[in-house]
Amino acid sequence: MKKVLVTGGLGFIGSEAVICLIENGYEPVIIDNLFNAKVAVLDRIETITHFRPKFYEVDATDEEATEKVFAENEIDAVIHFAGYKAVGESVEKPLEYYENNLESLIVIAKCMKRHNVKNIIFSSSATVYGVPSRVPLYESDPVAEATNPYGETKVMIERILKDLQKADPTLNVGILRYFNPIGGHPSGLLGEDPNGIPNNLLPYVSQVAIGKLKCLKIFGDDYPTVDGTGVRDYIHVVDLAEGHVATLKKLEENPGYVVYNLGTGKGTSVLELVHAYEKANGVKIPYVIAPRRAGDVAENYADCEKAAKELHWRAKFTIEDACRDAYNFQKNNPEGIK
Ligand code: UFG
Repeated sequence: MKKVLVTGGLGFIGSEAVICLIENGYEPVIIDNLFNAKVAVLDRIETITHFRPKFYEVDATDEEATEKVFAENEIDAVIHFAGYKAVGESVEKPLEYYENNLESLIVIAKCMKRHNVKNIIFSSSATVYGVPSRVPLYESDPVAEATNPYGETKVMIERILKDLQKADPTLNVGILRYFNPIGGHPSGLLGEDPNGIPNNLLPYVSQVAIGKLKCLKIFGDDYPTVDGTGVRDYIHVVDLAEGHVATLKKLEENPGYVVYNLGTGKGTSVLELVHAYEKANGVKIPYVIAPRRAGDVAENYADCEKAAKELHWRAKFTIEDACRDAYNFQKNNPEGIK
């Protein structure tokens, strides 16, 4: 397996995966519609790896354009990152989320079938577990009804891929359920670069750290957790990217349909994260306690032993590493990537 089509390959996670693929001797081919990414990311990937991957400005819902990419490249495997990903927005615009996320998967699957491509890794999410009745979460835990349309697209796509694999047992499907990806490339060249005011905790904290935003609002301090604030499993994006390379290697053994949690196995509260950020970077993060955010759960973290055993993969970076890399990127790119 050599040539890997990476959809959404210029995004926060996709670009790190592209770097990791290059470093491991794979040849990524990127498609991205630049909806949530900048073309300058390609230059930065080249600066880091000294290799410029092939890039197509193509929307994965565009079957004709995507088909052309498959026809021009002998693709061995697909890593499908592309998709809309904002929980709140998905509640406002369910039709756009279902259309975009499902259509792109269907187009990719049709192209794979026509070109006899037998390996796919899909970016799923811990959101498929719904509201956890206990932590940690195991891959064998039931997939619940999602609490928002974004999450529902992840549930549906897992199901579609399962059915496709059942119909064609020679297909290999790796479902990766991400917990909370944070951080950036250690070079400070790549990181999380959301449009507008960040929804997620770490990019918000980083913008407070450089004075772009005034003050962090901590959503709730009365949860039944270590200090009352929400607990999540934050994973460094480089560790996450390496999890994809490990999964590609697994797919070479023809395992069929496999599911892995990608997290650290350790929960960190909002306050613990803020303090780690302050310590790692020597900055002060002003915050206020605000009401709970609708839809948030108290505690969510992964059991990662299945990935450790079967993929020989474990997250290596600490929360402090991730805070340092996130701050580095934010400092170097106060207005994001141009
Ligand atoms: N939080 C704040 N203030 C903020 C932003 C977040 O206190 O300004 C808190 C949240 O309440 C939560 C924690 O920080 O306790 C993490 O929140 P994020 O928005 O960063 O992440 P979520 O866990 O809510 O969401 C993530 C992904 C989703 C995915 C979900 C479940 O962003 O895509 O995990 O797996 F669906």
